[in-house]
Amino acid sequence: MSKKCVLVSGGAGFIGSHVTVELYNAGYDVVIADNMSNCDETCYNGVSQILGVRLPLVKMDFCDRAAVDKLFADYHIDAVIHFAAFKAVGESVSEPAKYYENNLGSFLNVIEASRAQGGCNIVFSSSATVYGETDKLPVTEESPRMPATSPYGNTKQICEDILRDSVKAYAGIKGIALRYFNPIGAHPSALIGELPRGVPNNLVPFITQTAIGKRECLSIFGNDYPTPDGTCQRDYIDIVDLAKAHVCAVARMLDGKMAEGYEIFNVGTGRPVSVLELVNAFEKVNKLKLNYKFAPRRAGDVTAIWADPKKANEVLGWKAERSIEETLAAAWAWEKRIAGK
Ligand code: UFG
Repeated sequence: MSKKCVLVSGGAGFIGSHVTVELYNAGYDVVIADNMSNCDETCYNGVSQILGVRLPLVKMDFCDRAAVDKLFADYHIDAVIHFAAFKAVGESVSEPAKYYENNLGSFLNVIEASRAQGGCNIVFSSSATVYGETDKLPVTEESPRMPATSPYGNTKQICEDILRDSVKAYAGIKGIALRYFNPIGAHPSALIGELPRGVPNNLVPFITQTAIGKRECLSIFGNDYPTPDGTCQRDYIDIVDLAKAHVCAVARMLDGKMAEGYEIFNVGTGRPVSVLELVNAFEKVNKLKLNYKFAPRRAGDVTAIWADPKKANEVLGWKAERSIEETLAAAWAWEKRIAGK
């Protein structure tokens, strides 16, 4: 039987590169497409080294409809995993139009190209941000989506709706939205990982850059939250575990196992970890001391959120496996490798 081909939009980035590795290892052909607007070829080269093969990398913008059509004409695409999007929450607040244009425009082009070829299996890269601030924890897929607190978050909600409605309207289109909690870590080979541009917004890259000496001090935003130690709680999901959830989602679609044309899954561990607990675990597993201080709360942060991953565990047959220590050791190994230490 010929291999099924999966298109990974945004496949040269942090999550896309890890997903590419897992898909290829699971026996799929993979076409990577990326406009390289938020990454260089470091992860693509790392993927090539891990797999021992240079997969096709098409440099193109998903907002360019003709380019998307050409991609679908050049390859026989059985499934698309759509990562290509802007992701900086703060920037989306100051430049909303940029976010709506890029994140919605690129996804609509994927839908249109899928329609034109008579259908496709589409996995959309969504986020726990769609749940907003909620006091009923953990969140299940049935938990209500709260009004988005940023244009970035709103694009995730709207793209979910676009996918749901497209599945209903257009024959042959099937969709799965994966709602990621907080993806962290790096591949155990330390050949691929997160490469933030400029000052990192996210916790773990800020921690590793502080530990390596690129940043002076980590600010822990808020220690007066109503949580056990006063710092925010999140569900940190290992990037390789997260990548494997995509393989399960693609297999479910291609094997015709979906119960409905559109399905949603939380991709998390079900384990809340506070900022302070994460910092302590990082110090302990990597045997170092981190320079940190408590700082005021960051605007827009929710107090606590973690997943109920039962649906993904039972229906998708996926489960987070790696411990927070393994994940933080991998993140540190990656930081050291890119710093050449
Ligand atoms: N934090 C710090 N110091 C830092 C960076 C983060 O204390 O320098 C804290 C935050 O306050 C938060 C936790 O670490 O409590 C996690 O913050 P991240 O920025 O790593 O992750 P978020 O939970 O804020 O972000 C996630 C996703 C986004 C999504 C956002 C919505 O990464 O994609 O939730 O709020 F949009």
